[in-house]
Amino acid sequence: MKRFLVALLSLASAYAADISGNWLSIRQLPDGTSQRTYFDLKEEGAHITGNVRGNQFNFVVLQSSGDPDAFTLTVGPKDGNTRRHRDYRGKLVGDELHLTPVRAPGKEEPDIVAHRVPAGEGALPTRIPPPALHGVAYNGLAKTPPMGWNSWNKFAGKVDDAGVRAAADAIASNGMKEAGYVYVNIDDTWQGERDGQGNIHANKKFPDMKALAGYVHGKGLKIGIYSSPGPYTCAGYEGSYGHEEQDARTYAAWGFDYLKYDWCSASNIYKDEDMHAVYQKMGDALQASGRSIVYSLCQYGRADVWKWAPGASGNLWRTTDDIQDNWASMTKIGFSQSDIAPYAGQGHWNDPDMLEIGNGGMTSAEYQTHMSLWSLLAAPLLAGNDLQHATPEILAILTNRDVIALDQDPLGKQATRVAKSGDQEIWAKDLSGGAKAVALFNRGGDPAKVTVKWTDLGLSATPQHARDLWLHSEVKLEGPDFAAQVPSHGVVLLRVSDN
Ligand code: GLA
Repeated sequence: MKRFLVALLSLASAYAADISGNWLSIRQLPDGTSQRTYFDLKEEGAHITGNVRGNQFNFVVLQSSGDPDAFTLTVGPKDGNTRRHRDYRGKLVGDELHLTPVRAPGKEEPDIVAHRVPAGEGALPTRIPPPALHGVAYNGLAKTPPMGWNSWNKFAGKVDDAGVRAAADAIASNGMKEAGYVYVNIDDTWQGERDGQGNIHANKKFPDMKALAGYVHGKGLKIGIYSSPGPYTCAGYEGSYGHEEQDARTYAAWGFDYLKYDWCSASNIYKDEDMHAVYQKMGDALQASGRSIVYSLCQYGRADVWKWAPGASGNLWRTTDDIQDNWASMTKIGFSQSDIAPYAGQGHWNDPDMLEIGNGGMTSAEYQTHMSLWSLLAAPLLAGNDLQHATPEILAILTNRDVIALDQDPLGKQATRVAKSGDQEIWAKDLSGGAKAVALFNRGGDPAKVTVKWTDLGLSATPQHARDLWLHSEVKLEGPDFAAQVPSHGVVLLRVSDN
């Protein structure tokens, strides 16, 4: 009898000690939403295999060690991107799987407790084939690059109703509205859940979207929203997958004027070659909504987006990965945009990402370079800082009318690099009326004399007039070239013309 009991107990503990199965952990967020992570694991001999799927990621188990009482897991994307690897220490405690994320100091995450759920729960939704390509007509919007503000760069998941109202108040009162800034754009993390009819609702941070849109409109401004063609956004919130038309109608009913549509988890369902058709689907939906909504594509410049986005009625499309508030990131993006200049034009713009001006990671000279470069690139000018606490110096950079005029020039041409020598670069942009913008950049660590030759701009004669757009003063030109002392990481920006 005793022997039998011992055998039974060891059998039970062997069974309980098997971590094979589908485990779910749910993290409740203060905004009333929850983030689910499924650990679909299999114990195979000395190894654990399987998938770890969160709202915004779909990873495989890459490495494991130990046993159910103390094990480690390394999970990551199938594409081998080691930057996204996550490590866990774990153990089985009764019916619970306890996991401790192992992160660098300062980046700790709370412990995870996961419970068994039926196999298959949390699996990726089936692929909905996107409609055949047919071309969507231009929506008539964004004849010049959109200007405004977006919540992400500064506030990320902390954006809320009060913060959006504060941004609108600031734009309407600090000179930005007069300088041309119009759109007040809510980025990721506004979404709550869908109701029984599938209608999306905002989470607790946004009690009344229609009222918020009304408030922003009342300031003479427009308002933007954010979603994903995937089931979840990049921050793990509800996406528009399978609800495209319905969501477009909701945004229109709330009074939104702009949609940023971010690929994110669509990559778990679709391939890059599906992007055009998938973006076309929302382009159709926006037009069918009956409201004029600027359409901003965000898929990080993949699949030569500039070649097909206008045909999906895209008004702008991201051309790169996310910008960060530092010199290396900003210049890596900004100075890499010359080749795609031919794709920019009235109603459809290359988008090298939002501005970081005023977020604190760069010097004033560097932020002037940022503003100059983005304006030369005919890029959307979406401020990404805390406007309530912007200093006069930062506002002066953001509202420099002479520089903004380059960005908003009705000809709609994007600048190209016309000369380069080491850290020194000359960029030029054709402007309406035969004028040109010319920038003398010094990317080096020391001040430098930078020279532009008028022949670099295709000019056979010295321009009659030149204006320095940061000093707001006329510059006298003589001879075949012009030289200026340019601070480290700075720019001298001129508008030259013959009339
Ligand atoms: C992506 C985009 C960013 C921002 C975040 C939000 O990273 O590229 O601009 O919208 O998602 O999660």
